Amino acid sequence: MGLLRTLQSVASFARPTLSARKRRFDRAANIDDLRLIAKRRLPGGIFDYIDGGAEDEVSLHRNRDAYQRYEFVPRILRDVSNIDTSTTFLGRTLPSPLIFSPTGFTRIAHSQGELAVARVAAAHQLPYCLSTLSTRSIEEVAAVSNGPKWFQVYVWKDRALVHDMLTRAESLGYEAIMLTVDTAVLGRRERDVRRGFTLPPKLGPGTLIDGITHPSWTWDFVRHDPITFANISGAAGRAVGTAVTLSDFISEQFDPALSWDDIAWFRERWKGHIILKGVQSVDDAQLALTHGVDAIALSNHGGRQLDGAPAPIDLIAPVVHATHGALPIICDGGIRRGGDIVKALAHGASVCTMGRSYLYGLGAAGEAGVERAFSMLDSEMRRTMSLAGVRTIAEISPSLVRTVSHQ
Ligand SMILES: Cc1cc2nc3c(=O)[nH]c(=O)nc-3n(C[C@H](O)[C@H](O)[C@H](O)COP(=O)(O)O)c2cc1C
Repeated sequence: MGLLRTLQSVASFARPTLSARKRRFDRAANIDDLRLIAKRRLPGGIFDYIDGGAEDEVSLHRNRDAYQRYEFVPRILRDVSNIDTSTTFLGRTLPSPLIFSPTGFTRIAHSQGELAVARVAAAHQLPYCLSTLSTRSIEEVAAVSNGPKWFQVYVWKDRALVHDMLTRAESLGYEAIMLTVDTAVLGRRERDVRRGFTLPPKLGPGTLIDGITHPSWTWDFVRHDPITFANISGAAGRAVGTAVTLSDFISEQFDPALSWDDIAWFRERWKGHIILKGVQSVDDAQLALTHGVDAIALSNHGGRQLDGAPAPIDLIAPVVHATHGALPIICDGGIRRGGDIVKALAHGASVCTMGRSYLYGLGAAGEAGVERAFSMLDSEMRRTMSLAGVRTIAEISPSLVRTVSHQ
């Protein structure tokens, strides 16, 4: 008894957790841990579709590595007892400079899919950008979210379809569109090629074995409604029924003739903000300014399109310089740490967006995983600000970072 009492006074006993995944999830310390949990839960083809990039994945890795080329110039003794991460973007006050990027086919990671991401974003009053290629519709997402909503547009050859989606989004209060302009054709994601990845996933001996060895995902997948392109019906949505490769689908439906002149077409039909997503050079950022878009997302589509495209973080300062700070900038790509967000803001970005970080959370544990991914990045950002000696987003200035000189 005496020994037990002594033990109790120095140790508290955790209630044992039966599920190994739940245990891993509870102990996950960062986004990479969520990624590993998702990797175990998802069939290989699904995980690779989310995790992979184009060709040699040079841009995919550079997006991450580039953050390590910058270090902080921390300041001390600055009373950091109150950290305020709120900021304004496109006329709206946001509690955090972290926004949810559009991702297609989100329900293949988890049946809760887009609705889970939309709910988490809304709970934090942060924008969620729904993809054209979503597996829940503009209407379904609006029904679960009272937070700010954006809609991402892939420009289809059938402009009537695009117009229809814009009208629906506008009538449901979506505040901005992100025009994705880095997808004239689909980047060659070689992991998908090797896996023979199709949408919806094709059943064959390989996928069956993958399914059997990942029972949690498979059980979740077969119990819920089949995956469809929820925003699109008719011929353009034919992948609903027949398995197609993503690249065949996109080359059939997307308009590769899209040009700067088309911005005016969108201006006429969309009263809200227009954000150009996929700007990858200083010259195009200047063109975006002259074409009157409201903001740009410096993005190489998470390394999934042009391999060898620059990392977004490296473009921010040159773009700010060339556009005289007149264009709000989103840094999109490789955000896996709160410190990455602080570095991007120090270079001159207004906000950051994340894709895989929340998808890893979703793939690991559904909505709880998305919430966890957000809260990890949020608390890392606050801790980084405290340790670097900045209390507000306005205090994050270029002098907070410098290029590492000894690499
Ligand atoms: C699985 C997946 C699907 C995506 N689908 C879309 C999409 O439908 N539309 C789009 O504009 N971008 C899409 N993206 C790109 C993201 O919006 C974002 O640019 C990218 O994920 C940012 O990089 P990160 O994943 O390193 O955060 C997708 C990215 C991933 C990983």
